[in-house]
Amino acid sequence: MTQKSEKTSSGDSMDHVSLFDPVSDQSFDLPLLTGTEGPRVIDVRHLYRDTGYFTYDPGYTSTGSCQSEITFIDGEQGILRHRGYAIEDLAAHSNYLGVCYLLLYGELPNAKQKEAFVQDITHHTLLHEQLTFFFRGFRRDAHPMAIMCGVVGALSAFYHDSTDINDPDQRRLATHQLIAKMPTIAAMAYKYSIGQPFVYPRNDLDFAANFLHMTFSLPAEEYKVSPVMARAIDRIFILHADHEQNASTSTVRIAGSSGANPFACIAAGIASLWGPAHGGANEAVLKMLGEIGSKDRIPEFIARAKDDKDPFRLMGFGHRVYKNYDPRAAVLRESCHEVLDELGIENEPLLELAMELEQIALNDEYFIQRKLFPNVDFYSGITLKALGFPTSLFTVLFAVARTVGWVAQWKEMIKDPEQKIGRPRQLYVGSTPRPYVPLHKRS
Ligand code: CMC
Repeated sequence: MTQKSEKTSSGDSMDHVSLFDPVSDQSFDLPLLTGTEGPRVIDVRHLYRDTGYFTYDPGYTSTGSCQSEITFIDGEQGILRHRGYAIEDLAAHSNYLGVCYLLLYGELPNAKQKEAFVQDITHHTLLHEQLTFFFRGFRRDAHPMAIMCGVVGALSAFYHDSTDINDPDQRRLATHQLIAKMPTIAAMAYKYSIGQPFVYPRNDLDFAANFLHMTFSLPAEEYKVSPVMARAIDRIFILHADHEQNASTSTVRIAGSSGANPFACIAAGIASLWGPAHGGANEAVLKMLGEIGSKDRIPEFIARAKDDKDPFRLMGFGHRVYKNYDPRAAVLRESCHEVLDELGIENEPLLELAMELEQIALNDEYFIQRKLFPNVDFYSGITLKALGFPTSLFTVLFAVARTVGWVAQWKEMIKDPEQKIGRPRQLYVGSTPRPYVPLHKRS
């Protein structure tokens, strides 16, 4: 592959890479695209049309599926920025709804915009009362993520005034409704699973405090939201708000590329998030720490993680994009210690185990060579446990936080004139043509 630069008729220079095909003895020029940051991108959109070849990239490790202005990640440097703002700054200075506005509208809100946005989100937190009956169709021991998938998908049956994807006002309404109603659905899924009555939202509380109220309060007694808990949850929401074209976001974009309504698309995103290789990892970290049990058993589990014949992996380690410390993990590691100090939790055995595991893994040649660092889930699981959340709610919290990322990316996709229905191709390795075998002749 060679690279060359040409002047276009307008005088701009256009870079290409040249691909030589020894079969046809021909060279093909593929345009090189340049973003504002990040590696340059070879434009293969017309590759098949011009050459008859597809590209092969399972897991899309070298494939950009869209243009986006929302989130930038430099995995080698451990950088995450939303709309140009460093995640560390957003976590330190903004709150979650401020970040939501930024992701959706491209700028940090001024005071008036922030007030109007908060007001609008706050006034969409209630669910249609009929929706609350949906929960009762589930078994009490259903995982809250299973309930979330179902109930969020069902929203499209209730909010007919926001499913026309071609109407910008309806799109805006749907995105606000989803951000506002997800915490209510999440809290109700939890309440249902433990047999407690649903707690309705309170508009005098902020986003994080209201979520804690709906999750932990009971009609029988007063519940005072701890500001430490509220701030910690808000920070966890900020750190999980968006992460570029990850599995669940790509799922939302692919579902949306067919013209499906936003509620159906977000339900698809929730399903994708649930897996232990993605959002389910925070729950898996806690399960793993419980399984390890004590520090003296860490070497055994490290050995298992390194054994290529053993499917066991260290949960909360490694990332498709970060080949450096996950910047979200760095913020959350600090936050995790703050929470434990504030709540007066000393010598939390799981945290001690986690710290030891982190140190051993960080100094192990296997993990160093493969650039496997702790990711955000490693610390979010421990923080959420310290805050009193049951493990079954960990991924649910991730889904609540990531909803804004999903809807911001979905909205961007709908407006992008270059987007087409998502339709990858394949390398077919099945049978070549063969004659149909009648039933009586089959062995
Ligand atoms: N423990 C042990 N070995 C690992 C781990 C791990 N957690 N992660 C990757 N490896 C090894 C893997 O076996 C492979 O080794 P080799 O080259 O010898 O075959 C090498 O590292 C590269 O792994 P990969 O599977 O090609 O990497 P990937 O980019 O496909 O996978 C990952 C990324 C996140 C799915 C994977 O690291 C993993 O399963 N981690 C544990 C689950 C987890 O914590 N997921 C949360 C991700 S962050 C939150 C989010 O964004 O959703």
